[in-house]
This record gives sequence, structure tokens and C-alpha cells, in this order.
Amino acid sequence: MKFFKCLVLSVIVYFGLWIMSATSHSGVENEIVKARMMSMKEIAASMKYIGKVQRGTQPFDLNEIKKNLETIKYNASITPKLFEKYAVDPLSEAGTEIWETFDDFKTKALQLEKTADQFLNTVENKEQLKEALRGLGSNCKSCHSKYRN
Ligand code: HEC
Repeated sequence: MKFFKCLVLSVIVYFGLWIMSATSHSGVENEIVKARMMSMKEIAASMKYIGKVQRGTQPFDLNEIKKNLETIKYNASITPKLFEKYAVDPLSEAGTEIWETFDDFKTKALQLEKTADQFLNTVENKEQLKEALRGLGSNCKSCHSKYRN
């Protein structure tokens, strides 16, 4: 009985947090669109953080860098799943080409995941961050130029 109560409670908390995070993307009605935008936002926040460290406005902390690379890697890994279903919203910038050439879209997401993983395995110092940002950034660009309006 205790286990069951615990389970119910964690389900409530989980959905509470989910709704909170979903509704924080103001103006977007579609849940699928919201979720993929939130994920992209997380990727962007991590890139921004690494950029700050690279420029010296944040101190270099290898653990933090790795955590942010993990965030990028994870979100890239779920990108195909998040975009799998065709969903549009007036505020969405997603191009319909995504669903016309979904395999290519998936390949681009995988490429970002791989690049993040590669830097996760090699990053040791601040000097490497410039190259990491350039490498990661070229993946954003290659997908956005084709699939983001
Ligand atoms: C596989 C394709 C793909 C890759 C790789 C990708 N993006 Fe995106 N991104 C998209 C698409 C598509 C949208 C538009 C989503 C929408 O509006 O529904 C988007 C939207 C965004 C947005 C706007 C989110 C919002 O709230 O409207 C940001 C910020 C962003 N991407 C940052 C990045 C950064 C930074 C990278 C690289 C580190 C990256 N993306 C890599 C496809 C990609």
C-alpha cells in the first residue's frame, strides 16, 4: 500500500513538473511542438555556457563542460523521436521538409550526437573549446539551414 501511494505521488509530481515546463513556452499550443522547442532550448543553453567559458566570462570547470556536452548529446539523441510526428504551430519554425526527408533529418541529429560524444571523450582543457564549439555549431547550421525556417 505504501509503495502504491509513493507511486501515485511520484506520477503526480512528474506530470506537475512536465506541465510546468511545457506551459513555460508561452504561446505555443501544441504539446509536441513545445517539447521539441524546449529540447532545442536546452541544447542552445549548453552551447551558450560553453561559449562563455571559452571567452573567459565563466571559469573553466571540466565537470561542468562535460555535463553540458552530455546535455547536447542527450537532446540530439532524442531529436528524431521528438520530431517523428508531424506537428505544426503558428510559432513553430520547423520546415515541412523534415517529414519529407526524415532519414536525412535523423542523420543530422545523429551527427550532432556523435560530435558531442567525440568532444566528451577528448575535452581536457579550455583551449579545446573553440574547436568544440565550431564542430558542434556546424551541426546546428547544417540542420537549421535545411529544416528550420
Ligand atoms: C537535426 C536537426 C537539428 C539540429 C542538429 C539542431 N537543431 Fe535546433 N532546431 C531544429 C528545428 C527543426 C527547429 C525548429 C523547431 C520548431 O520551431 O518547431 C530548431 C529550433 C531551434 C531553436 C529555437 C527553439 C525555440 O524555442 O523556438 C534553437 C535555440 C535551436 N534550435 C538551437 C540549436 C543549436 C544551438 C543546435 C546545435 C548545437 C541545434 N539547434 C541543432 C533542428 C535542429
